[in-house]
Amino acid sequence: MYSEKVMDHFQNPRNVGEIENASGVGTVGNAKCGDIMRMYLDIDDDGIIRDCKFKTFGCGAAVATSSMATELVKGKTVQEALEITNKAVMEALDGLPPVKVHCSLLAEEAIHAALWDYAQKHDIKIEGLEKPKSDISEEEDEEDY
Ligand code: FES
Repeated sequence: MYSEKVMDHFQNPRNVGEIENASGVGTVGNAKCGDIMRMYLDIDDDGIIRDCKFKTFGCGAAVATSSMATELVKGKTVQEALEITNKAVMEALDGLPPVKVHCSLLAEEAIHAALWDYAQKHDIKIEGLEKPKSDISEEEDEEDY
């Protein structure tokens, strides 16, 4: 049912954890299953993503897609990171079962929410970036999980 790459990223997820003093942090909820994901970005003065970590209450497919997404955004500019869709992440994992496609949205939206947070904090505009509807950062800010 799952590709080898999905199983690998599920069993050995890359970049799990937090980044202290992250440039941007985004927390999103999945409308379909209610699962939650938080993404941390470390962005340098040139707008290059130097590090990316995540924490999730999502399922195995969410873990695998987030793990792959963090690998894909590292070293990219914020503009390039914005263009990494859940479809691109799924392709990099050799696909997901149709019932699990919604899980892959968590990573994409959490990256967008973290980029949004970065843009707000630094008072910059990232072309094409809108606040994700699933962004629950403000509600979650006080909670430490
Ligand atoms: Fe919720 Fe997969 S079932 S993220």
